Amino acid sequence: MAKVSRPPPAVALVLVLVGLVAAVADAAPGPRGLTRYTRVFAFGNSLTDTGNAAIFPATAGGPFTRPPYGQTYFGQPSGRASDGRLIIDFLADELRVPQPTPYLAGRTAADFLNGTNFAVGGATALDPAFLVTKGIMSFVPISLSNQTSWFQNVLRLLNSSSVYEQRKVMASSVFYVGEIGLNDYFFALNSNSVDVAVSLVPHVIGAIRSALTAMIAAGARTVVVTGMLPIGCEPQQLALFPGGPGDYDPATGCIARFNEIAERHNLALRVMLGELRLAHPGRSLSYADIYRAVTRAVASPTLYGFGGMPLAACCGGGGGPYNFNFTTFCSAPGSAACADPSKSISWDGIHFTEAANRFLTRAMLKGLL
Ligand SMILES: *[C@@H]1O[C@H](CO)[C@@H](O)[C@H](O)[C@H]1NC(C)=O
Ligand SMILES: *[C@@H]1O[C@H](CO)[C@@H](O)[C@H](O)[C@H]1NC(C)=O
Ligand SMILES: *[C@@H]1O[C@H](CO)[C@@H](O)[C@H](O)[C@H]1NC(C)=O
Ligand SMILES: *[C@@H]1O[C@H](CO)[C@@H](O)[C@H](O)[C@H]1NC(C)=O
Repeated sequence: MAKVSRPPPAVALVLVLVGLVAAVADAAPGPRGLTRYTRVFAFGNSLTDTGNAAIFPATAGGPFTRPPYGQTYFGQPSGRASDGRLIIDFLADELRVPQPTPYLAGRTAADFLNGTNFAVGGATALDPAFLVTKGIMSFVPISLSNQTSWFQNVLRLLNSSSVYEQRKVMASSVFYVGEIGLNDYFFALNSNSVDVAVSLVPHVIGAIRSALTAMIAAGARTVVVTGMLPIGCEPQQLALFPGGPGDYDPATGCIARFNEIAERHNLALRVMLGELRLAHPGRSLSYADIYRAVTRAVASPTLYGFGGMPLAACCGGGGGPYNFNFTTFCSAPGSAACADPSKSISWDGIHFTEAANRFLTRAMLKGLL
């Protein structure tokens, strides 16, 4: 069981965001001393996508565009992989910046000056062409390097011809890199092996490093990079890979060898961020520890307001301890509704509920308010 003496996730995430607090002190103070950032640029996959996959031809009409996605907050599907809002939605509210426009939904400089969300559901960190060399097929042909090119398109639209203007825009922006790499590891695990997934870690971290380097070169000053979530706590993985008693972490019930991949990823990510901080003094590069927050919630769900089945999907059905079956994936014909998403961590076996997203975001930003 988890020891009570360890700091709860909120505290851990606040410590992790000390860099963001420092950047706040730098920027022009607003009411209550809070930063007045003007916009957020977001990158990632379905955990961060607020509408791109719903527009991108290869994924348009996918599960997130059908009820009951959006049942809790929007009252209808919004293209988000949840019953409501995502971390990026809560983050924008807390920073008091507009909701970023999904890249594929915007056209004009005015759309993108409010911030841009480049995240796409199904996106990988690595390019599909590279994954193929490892025997891995991805489903959605968008990687972090595509999202970086899109960011550069937006820069051009926002008058990057004037270096001074570009620096001003970049300095007043928060760069939020949501969790990225989960799809790369999923595809490796589901069609290959743990060893292949582990072999991807340095490449995934290299892809994140390239994206961060492009943001920094453009003038980004405040960057928040989310770590890898505990892969072995995902109901989908738990249902797909039943194991013996020794395969599960006793404190959480998660698959230990899958969580070790996430831990390797997070260690390498933190080392890489440390290198970038040394190379680029004066930039704030924070690590958001989603791994710790999720594992704490899974180990002690009722402590954080969740119900007693933290490893079960809410929407979809399938029964058993994880309530997951691909045949009845959330929103598919015959899938079961979710009675009370506010008590569940996992919405559909892969993605978090709005309640979990709110918990994770508040934990990250607690120290700023
Ligand atoms: C930008 O954000 C402001 C403030 O939220 C909003 O009033 C405006 O409509 C937004 N513009 C666009 C183009 O989305
Ligand atoms: C993504 O990047 C690849 C490799 O550079 C490119 O071939 C592809 O056209 C890009 N896709 C989109 C939608 O921009
Ligand atoms: C870009 O520059 C043009 C010409 O200087 C100006 O009219 C336009 O408002 C600028 N756009 C933005 C988004 O600043
Ligand atoms: C998933 O559901 C289908 C249809 O109800 C059923 O045939 C199948 O056995 C289920 N799979 C598992 C692993 O329970």
